[in-house]
Amino acid sequence: MIANVALLPGDGIGPEVCDGALQTLQAVAARFSHEFRVQTHLIGGAAIDAVGEPLPAATVEACRGADAVFLGAVGGPRWDSLPPARRPEKGLLALRRALGVFCNLRPARAWPACLRASPLRPEVVAGADVMIVRELTGGAYFGEPRGRDSAQGRRRAFETGSYDEHEIARVARLAFGIARHRRRKVCSVDKANVLETSRLWREVVCEVARDFPDVQLEHQLVDSAAMRLCFAPASFDVLLTENLFGDILSDQAACLPGTVGLLPSASVGAGGPGLFEPVHGSAPDIAGRDMANPAGAILSAAMMLRHGLGLEQEARCMEAAVEAVLAGGVHTADLRPAKAAGTREFAAAVVREIAG
Ligand code: IPM
Ligand code: MG
Repeated sequence: MIANVALLPGDGIGPEVCDGALQTLQAVAARFSHEFRVQTHLIGGAAIDAVGEPLPAATVEACRGADAVFLGAVGGPRWDSLPPARRPEKGLLALRRALGVFCNLRPARAWPACLRASPLRPEVVAGADVMIVRELTGGAYFGEPRGRDSAQGRRRAFETGSYDEHEIARVARLAFGIARHRRRKVCSVDKANVLETSRLWREVVCEVARDFPDVQLEHQLVDSAAMRLCFAPASFDVLLTENLFGDILSDQAACLPGTVGLLPSASVGAGGPGLFEPVHGSAPDIAGRDMANPAGAILSAAMMLRHGLGLEQEARCMEAAVEAVLAGGVHTADLRPAKAAGTREFAAAVVREIAG
């Protein structure tokens, strides 16, 4: 296969973890006789510095024309005081919208080699393996109207959390389909005791569920689901939820592997190129110090192979390589080992595993 990948390294540790992911991708290409043609483009703070906006039109065009889009991270203190429309994060949100990737898959599990690193007791976290399916292009992140004004001399800020039934049904459908390849359980997370959008969410998810009688559906309120993710993480299979709740719960799910550095993501759904990025963000405090964990990015590249390019065997090879390296005790600083491996060292070890 020849595939074109648009690479958006972005800010902070984004470029370092992208390097690691790219090396492992090229190792897979060599082993399975594929060719991944990678072209780099600007996004986030790096784009603001270079051309004055977080998502240049040239980047959008290149991403639309690629077979898959791979992103490092965006954001950092340098750009924090810019107006909302010119923040690095705005570039990422606009890209998700432009690609129409409404379904964000964020798997989190307790890696046997890392049980020690989890803040949860081994007997609580062991066996936990959850697939968070986060709606990615709706809800309060995008709803209009939004903004600021002032009323009676007081500053006021507001946004609109809104979902229509189509937005809910299409992501629910994908979540149920994914559950069919797993343990056939979907937990739909909402705040139906308070929010109108959540009441519609629950209704529509129930309607979609009728087409998946072999999948067991339960509903849970987001506050108690957050608690359950800590107390009984192994009781989840697929966790389906809206954009903002999914953002929060997917970071919380870092307590399963013991570091957000191990969490990958895939954003899909539109039929066009998918967007693949680690969950961790730009981590400006450790940027440029060869300290970042590239595993989240490498596992995101594996998700790109699986969900973006249809290369299941290759994806498994990459995941098995990461697992073997972790089992071999090569751990970056975020896993708090006695002796930490660097970003480059970890990636090189994964490359060696893939090469066999
Ligand atoms: C994530 C991030 C983004 C989000 C930010 C950087 C806009 O937190 O991908 O989880 O909120 O979606
Ligand atoms: Mg987040």
